[in-house]
Amino acid sequence: MDYDSFLELAKTRRSVRRFKPDPIPDEYVDKIIEAARWAPSGYNTQPWDFVVVKDKKIKDSITQWVGKYWAAAIEMEETREFGQKQGDFPWHDEDMDFRIAPVYIILYGDTRTKIGLPMFIRHYPNLRESIYNSSLANAFMYMLLAAQTLGLAAQWVSLIAEPYIHCMVKDLLNIPRELEPYDMLVLGYPALKPRPKLLRPSDKMVHHDYCSQEEFRTDEEVNDFARRTVTWTTATHRRGVDKKMVG
Ligand SMILES: Cc1cc2nc3c(=O)[nH]c(=O)nc-3n(C[C@H](O)[C@H](O)[C@H](O)COP(=O)(O)O)c2cc1C
Repeated sequence: MDYDSFLELAKTRRSVRRFKPDPIPDEYVDKIIEAARWAPSGYNTQPWDFVVVKDKKIKDSITQWVGKYWAAAIEMEETREFGQKQGDFPWHDEDMDFRIAPVYIILYGDTRTKIGLPMFIRHYPNLRESIYNSSLANAFMYMLLAAQTLGLAAQWVSLIAEPYIHCMVKDLLNIPRELEPYDMLVLGYPALKPRPKLLRPSDKMVHHDYCSQEEFRTDEEVNDFARRTVTWTTATHRRGVDKKMVG
């Protein structure tokens, strides 16, 4: 693969939160997980386990638990600092369209794998946890990239790791105590084209040898981008199905 093809993949890999209910081939799921197996991990610990969910009843239960938790999340938004507050609660996709997507893959981390890290990392909690989580993030990213090459829509559902949802899912799916949820990948065929991405400009992002004051963002610039990207993300969560794509 050349750089241009890679960049094209990186640019076209986007979160799509509107799905067609059509099933996807099992072979695609296998391919996505196969790609993730090759992800780099701290000390090659490969701390991942994948739980593929296709059963409608299980998917419905998960969606219901995520939906319940949102009530608290909405209340918490009221505590956001003045100046960053959104008029309306922002990023919740009320329809939770992922409920109709045909496949969920829950990526779990096996906490026992941390024993394979060198002693200086095992006994340095921040580093240990960041290496463990980064390894899982790499596997997740490989799945996203693979899904993109197969023409699938993909959405992260991070709430899967929230304690209430985690406990409910763990009980329903008989997840061993040693496994901790990292994130859930929702897969299906897209019912929406992603809108152009709000991307930070590259100036004040790259520093060569030395980071001068002029090339470092001010607090105001950081806050301004935060406001704009919340608005942008909200819009991407709330967009409806593109009827043309559903057919
Ligand atoms: C660590 C992480 C957690 C995320 N969690 C969620 C999530 O719970 N729900 C969701 O819809 N998107 C989630 N996203 C997706 C981001 O909102 C999305 O990547 C971002 O808005 C940029 O859009 P893009 O993916 O189209 O480039 C998450 C992304 C990351 C990196």
